[in-house]
Amino acid sequence: MKLNILILSLLIVGAICVDDWIDNSKNYKPLIKSEMSFNSELPENFFWGDVDGVNYLTVTKNQHIPQYCGSCWAFTATSTLSDRIKIARKAAFPDILISPQVLISCDDFSNGCHGGNILTSYQWIAQNNITDETCSPYQAYGHDNGVGCSAQIKCKNCLPGKGCWAQDNAKIYSVEEHGQVNGEENMMQEIFNRGPIGCGIASNDYLRYNYTGGIYVNTTEVDYHNHAISVVGWGVENGTKYWIVRNSWGSYWGEKGYFRLVRGINSLNIESDCAWAVPKDTWTNDVRNTTASNTNSQSNFRQLHDCVRQENNQKDQVILSPLPHQYLNGAVLPKSWDWRNISGVNYLSVTRNQHIPQYCGSCWAHGTTSSIADRINIARNRTFPDIELSVQAIINCKAGGSCNGGQPISVYSFAHKKGVPEESCQNYVAKNPQKFSCSDIQRCMDCTKPAPTNTTVNPGRCWAVDNYENWKVGEYGTVSGADKMKAEIFARGPISCGIAVTNKFEAYTGGVYSEKSLTRINHEIAVVGWGVDETTNTEYWIGRNSWGTYWGEDGFFRIKMHSENLKIETDCSWGVPVVEK
Ligand SMILES: *[C@@H]1O[C@H](CO)[C@@H](O)[C@H](O)[C@H]1NC(C)=O
Ligand SMILES: *[C@@H]1O[C@H](CO)[C@@H](O)[C@H](O)[C@H]1NC(C)=O
Ligand SMILES: *[C@@H]1O[C@H](CO)[C@@H](O)[C@H](O)[C@H]1NC(C)=O
Ligand SMILES: *[C@@H]1O[C@H](CO)[C@@H](O)[C@H](O)[C@H]1NC(C)=O
Ligand SMILES: *[C@@H]1O[C@H](CO)[C@@H](O)[C@H](O)[C@H]1NC(C)=O
Ligand SMILES: *[C@@H]1O[C@H](CO)[C@@H](O)[C@H](O)[C@H]1NC(C)=O
Ligand SMILES: *[C@@H]1O[C@H](CO)[C@@H](O)[C@H](O)[C@H]1NC(C)=O
Ligand SMILES: *[C@@H]1O[C@H](CO)[C@@H](O)[C@H](O)[C@H]1NC(C)=O
Repeated sequence: MKLNILILSLLIVGAICVDDWIDNSKNYKPLIKSEMSFNSELPENFFWGDVDGVNYLTVTKNQHIPQYCGSCWAFTATSTLSDRIKIARKAAFPDILISPQVLISCDDFSNGCHGGNILTSYQWIAQNNITDETCSPYQAYGHDNGVGCSAQIKCKNCLPGKGCWAQDNAKIYSVEEHGQVNGEENMMQEIFNRGPIGCGIASNDYLRYNYTGGIYVNTTEVDYHNHAISVVGWGVENGTKYWIVRNSWGSYWGEKGYFRLVRGINSLNIESDCAWAVPKDTWTNDVRNTTASNTNSQSNFRQLHDCVRQENNQKDQVILSPLPHQYLNGAVLPKSWDWRNISGVNYLSVTRNQHIPQYCGSCWAHGTTSSIADRINIARNRTFPDIELSVQAIINCKAGGSCNGGQPISVYSFAHKKGVPEESCQNYVAKNPQKFSCSDIQRCMDCTKPAPTNTTVNPGRCWAVDNYENWKVGEYGTVSGADKMKAEIFARGPISCGIAVTNKFEAYTGGVYSEKSLTRINHEIAVVGWGVDETTNTEYWIGRNSWGTYWGEDGFFRIKMHSENLKIETDCSWGVPVVEK
């Protein structure tokens, strides 16, 4: 027994560690509250992306953009947690994305963009708690090269003219237990019983640049790790056993961002150093960090908060099929309809925050792209993989506007003519590009090392990626009025709408809102359903905002239908995505 432990620790300490992955076992102590010994009968094929038709895997990310950063370890630690939270919550609304940025800025056991370790990440989270991506989006800089730890990096908000501040009331997440697991059978038991695990792996140039799909068989014996990934399932094909592995190199890489690797022979050293963590349930009681004090005053909000959302051009429409209100009799529509929960299924893509890392008036691109992504989920019956569309590519292409405002219908028009790439092609940096251009690299990119250091600004090398999913809409148009909006939402999915927001709306924390706004429409949101408040018998809309999960009801709001609703029924738009079945 003692000998085994000795050999094990020698193996871990003996690992040659380069690139993304650093060995940290001397700083690590497992935290195990209940000793588990799993002994399930394991199926031949198992995949968390399809368990009886339900996908428990959160959206694919890209650690290499907008510039190279060796943060695989942080992506692995946070994706395994996000996926296990999704499993614990039975894939119910909302999808929660734990922030890798907090780790690369704050976890001192790591080297930020110059490597780190999954186990010490779990340990750091257990000791410090962590926030989601709407508090801290990925910037691909860490404490090693310019973006150090601060209250703002954990949760931030910004408004023009006011700068940025540490946001109060951030939702927080944590780890209950964490430990190590090794070897084919133990890994399978852990994955099957509790969810995805994180593993060290010996990556190579073939995997990075030449793998495009299939089962990768590599029989070279190696004893080091230089990359971290998450193992999310397994299978057997033509007698070859394989793992299903989540990578953090974008959805354009490999098999929708994943790869399959031969199983049972410790290929690429994948079966020798894996980690698991059990998320702490902070969501049931909506645990928040209430220690920050919001110092921003709400005065002059109207001018300052304005996203300069322009009126839709009613002539810019492409209508090919009958409109839902023409064939749906209003009387057949249900009393309530909520795409967050239709017969127990959440069809909505992730909640976002347009205001950070600095203020950007991109509401017009958020309300529209989220509605297209939601409708893709609906058309695909919420099967793997999750879709998140790139707002940054829309801004780079000036497809309707910029961080200084824009016109929603132009996003659908652009999606119709050119198509919209996914977030992992061009992640949101909340900035106008140095030069507006719809060049290939401004739509979808990849970058390689070295990561910049705090003394060199060499950003590595970036290039355009051309083989990516480009989501188009087949038709699009405008809609207004409660009955027509309902028919459109019911038949085809969420729509985007203009809204005339006020200081009072900004301070909304929940409930059915009502206010007669006298300002012009100055913001864009999405409407994802409606309902009836039973106590007051008031009909309301269910709206999605792009101001983070700390705002409103998980980033969403409810507002009165028919009147006193900030003009939400005045200027809406919709697009029908082209989805191959
Ligand atoms: C982490 O969150 C818990 C609530 O879940 C809180 O009691 C604890 O003080 C927090 N720890 C830190 C270091 O903020
Ligand atoms: C630069 O990074 C190194 C290594 O992370 C660190 O020790 C040093 O203090 C940093 N220097 C500055 C000026 O931030
Ligand atoms: C197999 O993996 C090793 C270690 O990562 C690598 O050096 C070698 O090039 C790989 N061989 C092939 C054929 O991919
Ligand atoms: C990857 O493919 C290119 C050509 O497609 C080839 O030149 C190169 O040697 C391959 N690299 C590896 C590591 O297999
Ligand atoms: C398994 O066999 C089928 C039929 O011969 C073939 O189409 C498929 O490509 C094979 N899969 C792999 C991973 O070799
Ligand atoms: C909670 O907020 C305080 C004050 O802004 C900050 O110092 C602390 O790091 C935050 N904790 C988390 C887990 O976000
Ligand atoms: C979804 O709605 C059904 C009623 O249609 C309800 O029973 C269930 O609890 C809801 N699920 C969630 C996660 O809210
Ligand atoms: C959609 O998925 C659910 C399971 O989540 C399944 O019950 C239903 O039959 C599927 N519908 C279609 C049209 O495939």
